Order: sequence, then structure tokens, then C-alpha cells
Amino acid sequence: MEIPWWRDAVVYEIYVRSFADASGDGVGDLAGVRERLPYLRRLGVDAIWLTPFYPSPMADGGYDVADYRGVDPLFGSLADFEALVADAHELGLRVLVDVVPNHSSAAHPWFQAALRGEGRERYIFRDTTNNWQSTFGGPAWTRVADGQYYLHLFAPEQPDFNWRNPEVHEEFLDVLRFWLDRGVDGFRIDVAMGLYKAEGLPNVGDQSFTSVSPVWGQPEVHGVYRDWRRLLDGYPGERMAVGEVWTDSPEDLAQYVRPDELHQSFNFAWLQAPWSAPAFRKVIEDTLSTVPFATWVLSNHDVVRHRTRYEGTEPGTGLARARAALLAMLALPGSAYLYQGEELGLPEVTDLPDEARQDPVFFQSKGELPGRDGCRVPIPWTVDPPSHGFSAGAAEPWLPQPESFAELSVEKQEGVADSTLEFYRRALACRHELAGEIPYSLEWLESPEGALFFTRGTLVCAINCGAHAVRLPGHEEVLLSSGPLRNGLLPPDTAVWLRRPAS
Ligand code: GLC
Repeated sequence: MEIPWWRDAVVYEIYVRSFADASGDGVGDLAGVRERLPYLRRLGVDAIWLTPFYPSPMADGGYDVADYRGVDPLFGSLADFEALVADAHELGLRVLVDVVPNHSSAAHPWFQAALRGEGRERYIFRDTTNNWQSTFGGPAWTRVADGQYYLHLFAPEQPDFNWRNPEVHEEFLDVLRFWLDRGVDGFRIDVAMGLYKAEGLPNVGDQSFTSVSPVWGQPEVHGVYRDWRRLLDGYPGERMAVGEVWTDSPEDLAQYVRPDELHQSFNFAWLQAPWSAPAFRKVIEDTLSTVPFATWVLSNHDVVRHRTRYEGTEPGTGLARARAALLAMLALPGSAYLYQGEELGLPEVTDLPDEARQDPVFFQSKGELPGRDGCRVPIPWTVDPPSHGFSAGAAEPWLPQPESFAELSVEKQEGVADSTLEFYRRALACRHELAGEIPYSLEWLESPEGALFFTRGTLVCAINCGAHAVRLPGHEEVLLSSGPLRNGLLPPDTAVWLRRPAS
């Protein structure tokens, strides 16, 4: 079988609002992304995933879509999008876009019509509510003027579609065609385990975002992905889809990636695993034994950045572990998703002032939860304030950048051998060089306590999550290490790639 491009692809997530601002208004845009494509080519990724740039009131950073076939003026125009796709393809980068099928914006013409009493069957309107809660906090129901309630599993500005209505299916097939016809290589499907709700909308006990319940993971959703798969397969050029599927079990995850459904699903178990060799090993084994095409991800625009998640008591631990985890991830069979800024070693910004926060999670939890703004702070390209090169104008970035971003800027790290940026570049280049000589499969090697050693053909990867240095597996050639090695020993919080002769 010809290997599809996405099987081993490294995909870079661009949170468009925070990547690069060419218009100078303090908000990232498509022209900004386009200008930085050579940076991404140089970094060595294979594809980019653009978070929503569609017309939106931005109640949830654009995950509240008012028009699925356009570009919000804040981010540019359809012409900007087309130019971006053309340039990306010219550079050999594939382009994925986000599709948000669980809910629209309340500003969507269908919902506006529903408020006037027309076409309410496109959404979920009821005379009475149940006990469901919004993922962002508070009840999942909001009352409209005539006394009915509508369901929103996220913000009130994000009414859930009624996928039991065929019109919704037709609409989304058409939306997918719209972007496929403009050359996109695939889709990231938002809240892919949502869409259908259990008949009768029964009350629930546990409604956590990851569980299969009357709220999430209804079996009917798979019919949607079968239809989408047929559509994608009808286009030339290996178009693909990756689902945002939060589940508790690898078996459940595997349901979404059956051969006639989605090509890939995010594997959040990897991102949720603590810094521990047994925990990593379990996720790797579970994944490889249940999912045909694995994916791996450490950070995205919804979670605390992994450098901060991995922080320990000693200063510097978080970054050392983040670099080691990258090497482990890039050594695994399958595709890897990176989140903008992790190549700079950006931490979560934990001290944003309340007035700056924009995430509905912060507001709906009445300030109890900080929300996700801390991983969405605009990227520092250069050393100098006011925006560290993020914005072409004098406008303040839409979220303030901490002073520490100067030291972490691209400008500061470029060409500095042990910088995180140069480390990412080397790791991605090395992965490309090895691609032809390593099999998709993985074998475990005998590992000292606290460490994990595995091999794929000529590549050996060793990661030390323990408290003591461990002896390296053998006398193989060191290809790359995430931090300094000491006399043939692998220190704690460090990973290494070794090459052994082909047998
Ligand atoms: C997904 C997105 C998140 C958004 C939510 C509602 O989880 O990744 O950012 O808030 O869906 O659309």
C-alpha cells in the first residue's frame, strides 16, 4: 500500500488570532500566517492546521461560526485564504482547516431565524430543560423570548445543531465541499464526539467532556463520518479528517477511525499522561494496539502548555521534560501534532490580569477557572516590545505578552545551538531523514526503572522520567539528545535518539 501523506505527518496547529498580525490591529490574521510560511517550512513541519477564521462574533475565539463559507474581516478575506493555500502548497505544506459542526454562533442566520420562530428544528429547542451543564460552566439551556429553551453544550452564544434533521447533514456536506474546492487538504473536526444527543435528552450523572454519555459519543455520529469519508475519498489528493475526540478508552477512540470513517483522531491520552515512564508506556501500548493510524499531541489551544504541566520543584524541569517528551513523541509511529510556540518552549502565561481575559470559561465559571487564554498569548517573533514582532502595527496584542517572551522569541533563539527552536528543527529534520528506514512498528527494549527504551528498526529512543541517571542501551551512534548526556549516561528529564546498524 502506498503510504498516505498524513500517516507520519507532523502537523503544526496555528491559533490564527495569536500567530502573526500583518494588518497591525493586534489580532493575528491569514496574511500574517502567509508571511510566516517560510518559517514553518524551515521548522520542518509537513502541514498546518488553521483554527477557525470564519465570520464570527468571537464569543469563543471563532468557535462560534456565523458563516461557514467566509473569512472574518478581522482575519482577512477569502482571497487571502486562497493566496495562503497556494503559497503553502508551493512550499510543500498541506493545509487543514477547522470545521465546527456541533454548534453554530447565535449570530448564524439559521439561529436568527429560529429566534423568530422559523426553522427551530435545525437546533434543539424544548419547552422544558434537563440537568445538562455547559462544558464552560452553568446550565446548558437558555430561555428565549417566547419561553422555549435551546441547548448549548458550550457558551449560550453557541447553540447546538439538531443532527437528527437531514438539512443539517446537507449543509455540512456542502460546507466541506466549499473548502475542498478551495484546495484544503483536510479538516480538523471540532467536538467530533458531540453532534448527536441521546433521544429524549435524559438527565445525566457524569457529564465530563471525556465520557460516553447521553450527551457525547452517540452511535449515530458515526454515520456522519462515513458520509464525510465518502466525500473526501471522492476528491483527488488524499484529503483527510482528524477528529477532536475526547474519550476515556482507546477502544472508543478506535470507533472513530474505522476504515470508512475518520482518518485520524487526536489521542489526548498522551497529553493527559503524567510525567512517568509506566504512564507513557501504557498510553503507547494502548494506542498502538487499538488504533490503526496513531496520532500524538502534547499541547493545543485548549490545555495548559506542556512545559508548564511538566514543571517540577527544580527550576528548568518543565522545559527539560518538554524537550524530552518531544523526542519521545517524534520517535513513535504515527503522526504528531505540534502547537504554535511549543518550538520556542513557551510556558503557560498564568498571571494574565482578569481584565485581559477573554475565554468564556473564565466568565462562565465566574472567574473560578482561569480559562485557556494562558496558552493563547501571541507568539514572540522578535526581542523588542510592544508586541515582540507579533503585530506589524503599534496596536497592543489582543492578549498581553509577559516580559519573559523576549528571551523566548524566535529572534533570540535563531542560530543558537542549544535553543529549543534549533532543537525542534534538528529533531524534525532527523525524523525526515530516518523516515525511509524505520518501520511503522515499535519494539520495547529492556529499560531501567523510571526510563523507557524502544526501537524502530535502526532508531533507538530512550527517555528518562526517573530521578537518577541511567545507562544508555548500548554503543550506538547518538543522533540527538534533548539535553546534555553525561559519560554515556542519560540524566533525568532527558531523552536521546540513537542509531544502530541495520541488522
Ligand atoms: C473545541 C475547541 C475549543 C472550543 C470548543 C467549542 O473543544 O477546541 O477551543 O471552545 O470546541 O467549540
